[in-house]
Amino acid sequence: MRGPVVLILMLCWASIVMWTTRKYFPHLTNGGNVLVQKSFMDLSSQQYDIKSVNIDNESKLRKVKIETNIARKRFDDKTKQHGPSGSKAKTQRKPFSEIIKSSGISLYKDIDPSRFHINVTRTHETSVRRKVPDTRPNECASVKYDMKLLPVASIVIPLHNEPWSTFERLINSVLTHSPRLLLHEIIIIDDMSDLDYLGSALDEYVEQFDLMRIYRTQERLGTMKTRVVGTKLAKGDVVVFLDSHTEVNVGWLEPLLYEISKNSTAIVQPSIDIIDPQTFQYRQYFRNNIRGHFKWSMAYEFVPIPPTQLKEIWEQPTKAFDTPAIVGCAFAVNRKYFLGVGGLDTGMRTWGGEDVELSIRVWLCGGSMKIAPCSHVAHIFKKGHPFKMEYSDLVYNNRRTAEMWLGDYRKYFYYFNNGYAKPPKSSEKFDIMDTVKQKFKCKKFDWLLRNVFPELDVPPEGTQYFGHMRNVGSGFCFGPADKAILKSYSLLVLFDCFFYYQAQHFALLENGRLMVRRQCVKVESDFLVVAPCTDEIGKWNLKGKLLVYTDGSGSKCAMQTSKDVNSENLQVIRLVSCENTNTTAQWEFPDKLFKSQSTEH
Ligand SMILES: *[C@@H]1O[C@H](CO)[C@@H](O)[C@H](O)[C@H]1NC(C)=O
Ligand SMILES: *[C@@H]1O[C@H](CO)[C@@H](O)[C@H](O)[C@H]1NC(C)=O
Ligand SMILES: *[C@@H]1O[C@H](CO)[C@@H](O)[C@H](O)[C@H]1NC(C)=O
Ligand SMILES: *[C@@H]1O[C@H](CO)[C@@H](O)[C@H](O)[C@H]1NC(C)=O
Repeated sequence: MRGPVVLILMLCWASIVMWTTRKYFPHLTNGGNVLVQKSFMDLSSQQYDIKSVNIDNESKLRKVKIETNIARKRFDDKTKQHGPSGSKAKTQRKPFSEIIKSSGISLYKDIDPSRFHINVTRTHETSVRRKVPDTRPNECASVKYDMKLLPVASIVIPLHNEPWSTFERLINSVLTHSPRLLLHEIIIIDDMSDLDYLGSALDEYVEQFDLMRIYRTQERLGTMKTRVVGTKLAKGDVVVFLDSHTEVNVGWLEPLLYEISKNSTAIVQPSIDIIDPQTFQYRQYFRNNIRGHFKWSMAYEFVPIPPTQLKEIWEQPTKAFDTPAIVGCAFAVNRKYFLGVGGLDTGMRTWGGEDVELSIRVWLCGGSMKIAPCSHVAHIFKKGHPFKMEYSDLVYNNRRTAEMWLGDYRKYFYYFNNGYAKPPKSSEKFDIMDTVKQKFKCKKFDWLLRNVFPELDVPPEGTQYFGHMRNVGSGFCFGPADKAILKSYSLLVLFDCFFYYQAQHFALLENGRLMVRRQCVKVESDFLVVAPCTDEIGKWNLKGKLLVYTDGSGSKCAMQTSKDVNSENLQVIRLVSCENTNTTAQWEFPDKLFKSQSTEH
């Protein structure tokens, strides 16, 4: 189980970065800002301070299609499909592929799978107008929304070298599955694509739709800036960001808008489905059982929902629920709130980490992050990283998040970054969100730990190794049993590592204590149990992969073994001779904490 989760996480990440394949990131003058047309500047109404996302040089953004009527429109006539007066009737519109062909460009020109990390031939052969399985919980189909009360949406799609078919499939899915009444516009921001068919052929395709506009950046802006630029161009009440390789499902838009109509400070993520990068099959991933977390390293991860919250969710399967973090592939936010609360951190480099920063910021500054189970959007989980992995940009971004928001807890960020991230020099400033902090009276990070994300375990002082205690032989993790008791102590028993909340985080301390749930691991009749810490308990240490226990009678090593407890056969941990080299006597902790003197603030 652990495998797929880690893989998916990595790939989602990979695909977020897919459209930022160029490794360099331009250093923008004027504090990293870009300019759009003047008329859009008035979006920054006085009450919102959006200094950090100001766009101040028009020439950097070419506006390809000059939209004459961009005032907010509402179309009450439901019979009008996606062609308000003036645009070509649906039947006259040409598919993107036809336009590409008539421009003399081969549809199969750029299909190198090692460039795109998907089977490009396969996506081109897959219908761009397809029916996919309805992956929502059954109850969702009967939920009715009062369209007139919902805010209207601007869809913002950053684009960078996306194969034409995945892009057109996304557009078709949006047009098919979004009520026209709620769809104000689709804004495409091309961030320096160089594929032939994404040039004038794309312009021609886009021009067929009144509600669609394309803008092209003149230098590489990357994820954060592109999305912020799109937000400033948008006129809808709500901005919905979609990666260019997503595909939306039936009824996807209403639940997102509904949540924001109830509370404009909610940022809402759809449930994420999966598109296989080789077969282009569409399948369910979220089943109302997954949400987003971040680790002390500030890395995002999908994790199973804790049992306490799960019960509530399954009782009301259509209701949006809280998540500590959202992932950037797809999310919806009230446009003015988003700009007011600081947009995205445009000081971050190229890709990665901005979704976690936004999540922490919004929680601390009085908003909330949610997942709407009735909204399903699929994401192509690409087969691999599109370029040689450079972690330095990501670490740079995550370090900004830690320095801006973690306060006294930021030392843990450095502990868990293996020395890659160095604490700042006194000359470095992380004040980009200071005005937001003041304006919204944002809370301190421990509020988030207490109220939103208690699952983020704080390692005890003096921790050397931290995380799930995983057995190398079985690949499983251990945690204190609920029921299996040995002489009034909880036995350590095996759990699937995926089920976090049972497996628990262990901390191996410099002083030889092995702790979990603020208690100590001790030995009872050669078996490992959890008990209150006392000085009589011997000392633990990790010698290579051996977990060694030493007390007055000498040293022994921990090994996974089976044991019958109350007529149930359980996998438990027992002390054996350290001569045993069986892999069931080998252990791993995911994190060795990195401590340099300077990380102690
Ligand atoms: C905007 O950028 C262009 C090219 O990057 C530059 O030539 C021009 O002087 C800039 N204009 C302003 C007003 O800064
Ligand atoms: C990619 O898809 C095409 C068309 O379906 C197929 O012929 C080919 O074998 C696939 N390539 C790989 C590497 O799977
Ligand atoms: C909106 O959500 C925030 C965060 O959960 C909450 O504090 C606030 O009271 C909500 N506002 C309304 C009007 O419900
Ligand atoms: C390791 O131990 C397990 C359980 O005792 C046993 O089934 C397995 O055969 C052992 N493997 C080796 C290589 O000794």
